[in-house]
Amino acid sequence: MSESGELDYRIQSPEVAHRFEQLRARPVILGVQNLSKVFGTHAALNFISFDVRRREFLSVLGASGCGKSTLIRIVAGLETQTSGQILLDGKPVAGPGPDRGMVFQGYTLFPWLTVKRNVMFGLRMSGKSAFEAESEAREWIALVGLSKFENAYPHELSGGMKQRVAIARALANRPRILLMDEPFGALDAQTRAQMQGYLLEIWRNVDVTILFITHDLDEAVYLSDRILVLGANPSRVQEVIENPVPRPRSREQFTSPEFLATYRRISELIHPPNTEETERIQIPRMTMAGDDVE
Ligand SMILES: Nc1ncnc2c1ncn2[C@@H]1O[C@H](COP(=O)(O)OP(=O)(O)OP(=O)(O)O)[C@@H](O)[C@H]1O
Ligand SMILES: [Mg+2]
Repeated sequence: MSESGELDYRIQSPEVAHRFEQLRARPVILGVQNLSKVFGTHAALNFISFDVRRREFLSVLGASGCGKSTLIRIVAGLETQTSGQILLDGKPVAGPGPDRGMVFQGYTLFPWLTVKRNVMFGLRMSGKSAFEAESEAREWIALVGLSKFENAYPHELSGGMKQRVAIARALANRPRILLMDEPFGALDAQTRAQMQGYLLEIWRNVDVTILFITHDLDEAVYLSDRILVLGANPSRVQEVIENPVPRPRSREQFTSPEFLATYRRISELIHPPNTEETERIQIPRMTMAGDDVE
C-alpha cells in the first residue's frame, strides 16, 4: 500500500508473480532493439527496445502522435526504420511476411470476396489446396463465431463482425505474432467491449503472441500481460508495466484495486502533472449564444 492507502501497482499476488516468472522463461518471439525512426527532422521513435515472449499479450500505449503506428508498421515491415532492428525468433526481418499477422483499424477485407474466401486467401497464397484452405478457413471462422456468415460479403457485416473476420484471416496463416493497431478504435463502446471479450477468448484458445496498440487505458489493462508506455517528443519507452490484474479477466475487475492502481500509474505517465498544455479554446464573440437577445 502507498501512503495514501492505495494499492501499489507493482505489488503482485503470488499467482500473478508466478505467471510472470513462467512468462519470462518462455522464448522471445519478437525483439525490438534500439529502434529509431526519423521523418525529415522529426524523431518519431527514439531508441525503442523491448521483447515480446511466446503467448504474451503486450500492449503499447501512448498519446496520439507518439509513434505507436510507426512502431507497429516497422514491425510489420510496411515501413523501414532509420536505425535499430526487429528480430523475429532471433532473425532480423526485412519487409512484410506471413509470420506476422495484421489487424488494423480500417477494415482491410477484400470487399469482392466472401468471408470464407477472405479467410482462404492467405492459405491459398501459401500453397494450400482449395480443399485444405476451405476446411481450415471454416475452422477459423467458427472460432470467431461467424459460421453462419461464411458466404456473406463484407458490406453485409457489422463493424465488429468485419474485425472478427480480419482476426480469423490473420490467424489462419498461423503467424508467429499478431500485430494489432487500434483494431477496435472505430467501434462503438458496446461492440468494442464485446470484441475485447472475444479477443481474450481467442487468445486463451490459440497459441499466439499479440502486440496490441491502443490509446485506451482500460483496454490495455483489461487485455494485457504487460503494458509498454511510450512517451512523446521524441518517443521513448517510459515504463513497461507488469499488469498485476489476475487472469482470467472479467469486466468486474475494472474496479478492483489492482486494476485501478495500474490505470492510475499509466495515467500518471501519459498525463504527467503540470506539464499538460492547457490551450484554451477561444470562441469568437460573434458566434456566442445569446448575442441576439442582448
Ligand atoms: N509517413 C510519414 N511522414 C512524415 N511524418 C510521419 C509519417 N508517419 C507518421 N509521421 C509522424 O510521426 C509521428 C508519429 O505518428 P504515428 O502515426 O506513429 O503516431 P500514433 O502514436 O500512432 O498516433 P495515433 O494515436 O493518433 O494513431 C507523428 O508526429 C506523425 O505526424
Ligand atoms: Mg496510430
